[in-house]
Amino acid sequence: MAAIPTSTLPDTMGTLRLAPATVADYRRLAEARLPRQLFDYIDGGAVDERTLAANRADFATFHLRQRVLRDVSTVDTSIDLCGQHASMPLVLAPVGLAGLMRRRGEVQAARAAAAAGVPFCLSTVGLCSLEEVRAATNADFWFQLYMMRDRGHVRALLQRARAVGVGTLVFTVDLAVVGSRYRDTRNGMGGGLSLGARLRSALNFAAHPRWLADVALGGRPLVFGNLASLVAGAANIQQFRAWIDAQFDPSVTWRDIEWLRAEWPGTLIIKGVLEAGDAVAAADAGAQGIVVSNHGGRQLDSAPSSISALPRIVDAVRGRIDIFMDGGVHTGQDIVKALALGARSVMIGRAWVYALAARGEAGVRHILSQLQRELSVTLALTGLTSVSDVSPDILLRD
Ligand SMILES: Cc1cc2nc3c(=O)[nH]c(=O)nc-3n(C[C@H](O)[C@H](O)[C@H](O)COP(=O)(O)O)c2cc1C
Repeated sequence: MAAIPTSTLPDTMGTLRLAPATVADYRRLAEARLPRQLFDYIDGGAVDERTLAANRADFATFHLRQRVLRDVSTVDTSIDLCGQHASMPLVLAPVGLAGLMRRRGEVQAARAAAAAGVPFCLSTVGLCSLEEVRAATNADFWFQLYMMRDRGHVRALLQRARAVGVGTLVFTVDLAVVGSRYRDTRNGMGGGLSLGARLRSALNFAAHPRWLADVALGGRPLVFGNLASLVAGAANIQQFRAWIDAQFDPSVTWRDIEWLRAEWPGTLIIKGVLEAGDAVAAADAGAQGIVVSNHGGRQLDSAPSSISALPRIVDAVRGRIDIFMDGGVHTGQDIVKALALGARSVMIGRAWVYALAARGEAGVRHILSQLQRELSVTLALTGLTSVSDVSPDILLRD
């Protein structure tokens, strides 16, 4: 499959550009607003970024059937997600360090998700803690867990999540070790910069005064949310990364899912499954759902795109558990394609973070309303009036 790098997706050259309309528009705005290191941290993937590109490009290998004269005057995009009513089949995926993109960014995104009526999932490594997000919104939100070597720390995190009313836990399993992300290496996210490189980096931060005023001055960018008490000594992102490398547990196996199942009585979703056998194992282990995901192309480069892996997994699981998918979802058509292939819902990662970086809470609200409108229009133009009516027969393949 020929991969289209996201940076060369078609541009609307010559258009009077007064307002953002798409995820690609928000990506451009985010690029202008953020220091290079931070934009690349969001935008980049692992190694040659093949999987990152395939996540987007492979959506284009599916086409939708245009069906006419079917009374589509009312279209319903709503759905139940893990017992929670949602305005559409979409969840804000967990994104670490989102609070670096805007002041208290996770809170802004959680509020936008609540206003749009979709779940927000807070990352273990968010800058805002569980308690801060709880205080900022009345809506239910989800929590994403990375396993740490010290199970006492994990147990304490789970207790905090329950104490603030989290009912759905998303356990991420595709980060046994952190993928090789060379944009971050080149930008010094892993440390080891020469004096000259440090100076150039500082100049790049200084060249983004709006970001500096918003996040660096007053955004508490170096307080690491849920992990703050554990990493109190980390004076910069590099030291935080080093702590993660040392503390996250690469020895986790399916037996740890049993332990987690016993510790967490709520809904359990396992995120980062790309193989049919692993999906069946997740169902056997008592998970209520999985996320078909390659971590947005940030982990194993050359892994298949999520949308291409989805059909095999749907076949293998045979309706036993809910299947979410993420990776490259940028449009309402992408959502319909994922549902047609058997997903219950999608998650979006970069899409909401670009909008957050560009316009804060208002940006996230706007991109969510754009996606919902596009989903509704797509359903209508394929002759459907509800997300529950989406089935494989609206798809055509290359
Ligand atoms: C900057 C960034 C940070 C991420 N941090 C986490 C994380 O902390 N936990 C997690 O489970 N997934 C994390 N992910 C993966 C997302 O949850 C999601 O799987 C991915 O972004 C989906 O692909 P998309 O960005 O193309 O929508 C991160 C992704 C990005 C882009």
